[in-house]
Amino acid sequence: SSSPHSSVNHTEVSHFNALAASWWDPHGSSRLLHLMNPLRHDFIQRCKETRIQEEGQKMRILDIGCGGGIFAESAARLSSTASVTAIDPTPEVIAIARKHARTDPKLMEEGRLTYLNTAIENLPLPSSPQEGFDVITVFEVIEHIQQPVPFLRAVLKHLKPGGWLIGSTIARTGVSWLTTKFVAEEVLRMVPRGTHEWSQYIQPSEMREWAKYEDGVDVGVDGRGWQVMGVVYVPGLGWKEVSGSADWGNYFFGVRKL
Ligand SMILES: C[S@@+](CC[C@H](N)C(=O)[O-])C[C@H]1O[C@@H](n2cnc3c(N)ncnc32)[C@H](O)[C@@H]1O
Repeated sequence: SSSPHSSVNHTEVSHFNALAASWWDPHGSSRLLHLMNPLRHDFIQRCKETRIQEEGQKMRILDIGCGGGIFAESAARLSSTASVTAIDPTPEVIAIARKHARTDPKLMEEGRLTYLNTAIENLPLPSSPQEGFDVITVFEVIEHIQQPVPFLRAVLKHLKPGGWLIGSTIARTGVSWLTTKFVAEEVLRMVPRGTHEWSQYIQPSEMREWAKYEDGVDVGVDGRGWQVMGVVYVPGLGWKEVSGSADWGNYFFGVRKL
């Protein structure tokens, strides 16, 4: 792995470099990410509804670990978005993301969507808290990071007060081992073997505990600064919200900055 100051692990980077070429194939190894994308927008909407933000204010979004840009592109097309900055440490996936964005002239508008091949630790900090992003997203990234706490701390430095950190990841349970390691990697081969490291999965309760004691985060003040939504992949139907499933499977989380 790389230096202690960076969250980037070279094994992960090689793994995702190899997947880059098929990123936009809806039936390829990123199929589950494509299918999950609509729920990401629903969840962001849910978090935003609890947020004190002026009506009509457009969002500046930072998408960390953006991969080939499935979410970044869809967010950049929304009329409620001012700009999307999308970063990933894997060079091949950023190359694919840039190439794919060129197929839509709207995404080529100045400042609408910017891809950077970098890690969060190397992104210049905002000059003042108010210059931070309104929403930062980390979809299916935390489970690829060995030390999530320093990573999340580095992420929070880029979030504006009142802004939301929104992500999705997987709870560390027997069920998730069975579904993500055994069924998805070994039986159905929906994702390549070795995509997931089960020991790096995080329970929603651990995420909430982190957020509760982290400086500058707002879970406890009105209880609405923490949002969670469990989702289950149903073959043939896609991802569905399933109440209570966050504790044993895939889930979305949202944390608001004070
Ligand atoms: C499963 S993909 C998810 C891509 C995208 N967020 C999505 O869901 O469509 C995980 C991504 O995390 C990236 N990644 C790995 N280590 C990272 C790190 N330390 N910081 C940010 N991204 C990282 C990989 O390069 C890969 O593109």
